[in-house]
Amino acid sequence: MRRRWTTAVAVSVAGLLALSACGGGDGQEAGGGLKAHKKVEVFSWWTGPGEADGLKAMRKIFAKQNPEFEFFDAAVAGGSGDAARALLSSKLQANQPPDTFQGHAGAELQGYIKSGKLEPVNFLYDELKLKEVFPQQLIDQITVEGQVYSVPVNIHRSNVLWFNPSVLRRAGVDGAPKTVEEFVTDLAKVKKSGKIPLSIGSEWTLVHLFESVLLGSLGTDAYNALWTTGADWSNATVTKALENFKTILSYAGTPQADWQPAAKQVADGKAAFNIMGDWAYSYLHNAPPGGLGKESHKDFDWAASPGTDGTFMWLSDSFTLPKGTPNRDGAIAWLKMAASEEGQDAFNPLKGSIPARKDADRSLYEDYLSWSLEQWSGSKLAGSIQHGVVADDEWRAAITEAVGLFQRDKDVAKFQRALVAAADDSGQ
Ligand code: BGC
Repeated sequence: MRRRWTTAVAVSVAGLLALSACGGGDGQEAGGGLKAHKKVEVFSWWTGPGEADGLKAMRKIFAKQNPEFEFFDAAVAGGSGDAARALLSSKLQANQPPDTFQGHAGAELQGYIKSGKLEPVNFLYDELKLKEVFPQQLIDQITVEGQVYSVPVNIHRSNVLWFNPSVLRRAGVDGAPKTVEEFVTDLAKVKKSGKIPLSIGSEWTLVHLFESVLLGSLGTDAYNALWTTGADWSNATVTKALENFKTILSYAGTPQADWQPAAKQVADGKAAFNIMGDWAYSYLHNAPPGGLGKESHKDFDWAASPGTDGTFMWLSDSFTLPKGTPNRDGAIAWLKMAASEEGQDAFNPLKGSIPARKDADRSLYEDYLSWSLEQWSGSKLAGSIQHGVVADDEWRAAITEAVGLFQRDKDVAKFQRALVAAADDSGQ
């Protein structure tokens, strides 16, 4: 089943592949022997409001530091990168890698490493002494057999509940719900008040919601145990978590095209709650046109998603050095900038994330971001499903398919069977 899905995606992106291959980073001799700027193709999915600003900030520093290279934006639109990754996988299979691409630290990146698509970057870690500045648990996620394979640029938090304080007040809800049970009670109150209780976006946002509900229902230790060898996905606590997910989904509004319009429904006072990663903060908070320019604690507010206080469900965007990359020097220059304090401190305050580096300038991280910095150092950790930490691409695709079917048929037993099968097939 899953293999068929992968093939379908590969076929549907074949056309795109042909197009994007033209953007490659080949250094050309311009007519008359003058050396043209060598392109550096940077592949990401940061095209939308709340995301593009951060990329622009890194691009500016890169241009200043590397006048001999020209940044080429190979970003593919679509929240959470499902479309981008499908295209990327075709490019890698066809041995047409971009010069560098965004990948999630953890199982997702390990997939690329194990299939031999990446060059280790230990030489950069040695030269820039990066082992001293990145947290060890993060380095472990991007290492295989002692070789480090990427440069993490940030830490995002997945388990955030965004809410509209006035919508809550009018519905008689006193602040953010702390548990899944309280959440369900509050969703019912909002429904009565005539507003949308919970806004959602496209399919991947449901997997995102699902990971928060699973964590909030099971607790951190039981959630983390699901990703270890011999994990039991068939037990009654998982059943209860899936029932919670069903109840919560019954309060969801009409699915929006992606995460931004769903988050906007909260900011506009049309919906009470949205569960989304903290890239939503930069979208809600950044000045227009990159963001909505909303005021925190007034137009919108946040809390740990219900039942997850004290746990930071994390993910990390990191950049890679693909094997056979057309402009290896350019890619290395990009990686050096992305690893630097200057790069991370320019990118993260605009991206809604905190720096992966431990020595970044904390004074630049205000409001939500200072909360996130504190939480990162004082919380238990859990890895995101949708954003590549605990499940590789194949496993995640199987979970996505199960969540998509569940959204339509609401059959808890069938959903659980599909999750058990997905875990079995993962070879975990
Ligand atoms: C990425 C974020 C991005 C979000 C929404 C996540 O998978 O890690 O950088 O902002 O998707 O597109």
